[in-house]
Amino acid sequence: MTMPSSAHPARTVRVDLANRSYDILIGPGLIETAGREIAARRPGARLAIVADETVAALHLDRLEASLAGAGLASTRILVAPGEGSKSFPTFERVVEALIDAKIERGDLVVALGGGVIGDLAGFAASVVRRGVDFVQVPTTLLSQVDSSVGGKTGINSAHGKNLVGAFHQPVLVIADTSALDTLPAREFRAGYAEVAKYGLIDDAAFFSELESNWREVFEGGRARLDAIETSCRAKAAIVGRDERESGERALLNLGHTFGHALEKATGFSQRLLHGEAVALGMAQAFRFSAKLGLCAPKVAERVEDHLAEVGLPTRLQHIAGGVGPVSDLMAAIAQDKKVARGSLTFILARGVGGAFIAKDVDPAAVQAFLEEEATPA
Ligand code: NAD
Ligand code: GLY
Repeated sequence: MTMPSSAHPARTVRVDLANRSYDILIGPGLIETAGREIAARRPGARLAIVADETVAALHLDRLEASLAGAGLASTRILVAPGEGSKSFPTFERVVEALIDAKIERGDLVVALGGGVIGDLAGFAASVVRRGVDFVQVPTTLLSQVDSSVGGKTGINSAHGKNLVGAFHQPVLVIADTSALDTLPAREFRAGYAEVAKYGLIDDAAFFSELESNWREVFEGGRARLDAIETSCRAKAAIVGRDERESGERALLNLGHTFGHALEKATGFSQRLLHGEAVALGMAQAFRFSAKLGLCAPKVAERVEDHLAEVGLPTRLQHIAGGVGPVSDLMAAIAQDKKVARGSLTFILARGVGGAFIAKDVDPAAVQAFLEEEATPA
């Protein structure tokens, strides 16, 4: 059903989850064919599109035209752009709007936007009428390679990131790579951190390729499509084996325990985007691994060099305005979901492509590491 719309034909990655399996369609111009893809899977469904105002101004008309062309009726629900929309007040407004739009079982919620919209709209879909299906139409690099895949949905609490949510798999992901052409450079770079993450977790060859070819990925075309497909295949494989994160899915949190604490310390603001926090957190995870004697210091330097070369932050000192005291970072780490009965779980690494889940990490060692990181060399 997927149509080649240019020199770069669309690709399909399958997420295998028994009766919750779905396709990820990746390619340029897919918003134009979204109506046909959705109608083929869910003829006659009513649709409610959730988008942020920025994405709506750029891409919503195209999506609505595509849906109407396939005979699908849709309504739109718009929210403010930014992490602030992953909040209880916005969640309530979206849920009420979905009910008001008479979205019922058999109908579809469509999340058009980045990870904020996917997480928010997916969570709303998971609770309205005890759960309606949803489609992800991710429009940032980060959401195309990570957040739209795997079914983690949710909002933030005053206590920290993503502390309220549900597992709710989409029924389809449509990643239109042309949408990335309107993405600000800083946002694209932030999403690249999650691409590099897949190499660092368990694919050293992919990381080496990125070290050589990252400029082509940033330029677009085939290299970008290849990197998005490789990332989606990596995520689909892990999610297929461990949907609910009872084991290896935790590897996808590489850089996130430090990163989430940094996002909280910077007030979930434009001072540090999620992907930037992940980049810094991954650099820290490798330096911490080196400090614990798990990997050679030159491995940590290699990781830092690549992230810094693409323009991502790798040191606390790179965060405009700083991050406050280490005690605040430690408090945020203690609230993270990766804490089991007080002992800290981190994703550490024995090398590039050699990430592993480390349980029972000594909080005093983390504190000493962060004190060192906070002291300029
Ligand atoms: P985002 O959704 O805030 O989008 C970033 C910015 O780009 C926004 O201002 C948005 O309006 C704008 N934008 C989006 N698409 C655009 C386009 N095509 N052209 C121009 N502007 C565009 O942020 P994000 O980086 O996509 O996602 C970050 C969120 O994803 C965080 O909340 C993070 O916790 C979450 N996340 C979730 C998962 C998961 O598995 N559910 C995984 C990783 C990250
Ligand atoms: N981004 C982490 C996960 O999807 O599990």
